[in-house]
Amino acid sequence: MEQTFIMIKPDGVQRGLVGEIIGRFEQKGFTLKGLKLITVERHFAEQHYADLSAKPFFNKLVEYIISGPVVAMVWEGKNVVVTGRKIIGATNPSDSAPGTIRGDYAIDIGRNVIHGSDAVESAKKEIALWFPEGIAEWRSSLHSWIY
Ligand code: TYD
Repeated sequence: MEQTFIMIKPDGVQRGLVGEIIGRFEQKGFTLKGLKLITVERHFAEQHYADLSAKPFFNKLVEYIISGPVVAMVWEGKNVVVTGRKIIGATNPSDSAPGTIRGDYAIDIGRNVIHGSDAVESAKKEIALWFPEGIAEWRSSLHSWIY
C-alpha cells in the first residue's frame, strides 16, 4: 500500500493547526502509520531539502523548518501521494484553492504550514530519513473501505 510523508511545519504547530490537519487526512479515509513531534537540527533539515540546496530561498527555508517543533507523519492509502498533495494545495498559498490546507490557512510561500512528498520515490526517501526506527504495525485487518 502506498505511503507518503507529511510534515506540519513550525507555523502550523504554533498556530494550533495540528488537529485540523490530521482530521483532514483521517476524514478522507487515509491511515495514520507514523507520528511524532520533533525539532530537527540544521543538518537534518538540509538533508530533507537537499534537492533545493541551490535555490535562493534554501537558507531561509532551513531556518524556518528548524525554528520549532514539527509534526512528522506517515499516511497510507490508495494514491495517497497525489491525493495528499491535493489536500495540501499548491506550493504558493496565493495559488492554493480554498478548501485545501494551504488555501485555507496560509498566505506566504515561506510560511505554508505543511509539507507533503511529491512522488512515491521521494516519499520512500523521506520516510526513511524521518522514521529510521520504523513505523507502527496495524495488526488488525482493516475494512475494505478504509484506505
Ligand atoms: P517545493 O518542494 O518546490 O514545494 P512543495 O513544498 O509544495 O513540495 O519547495 C519546498 C518549500 O520551499 C515550499 O513548501 C516553500 C519553500 N519555497 C519558498 O520559500 N520559496 C519559493 O519560491 C519556493 C518555490 C518554495
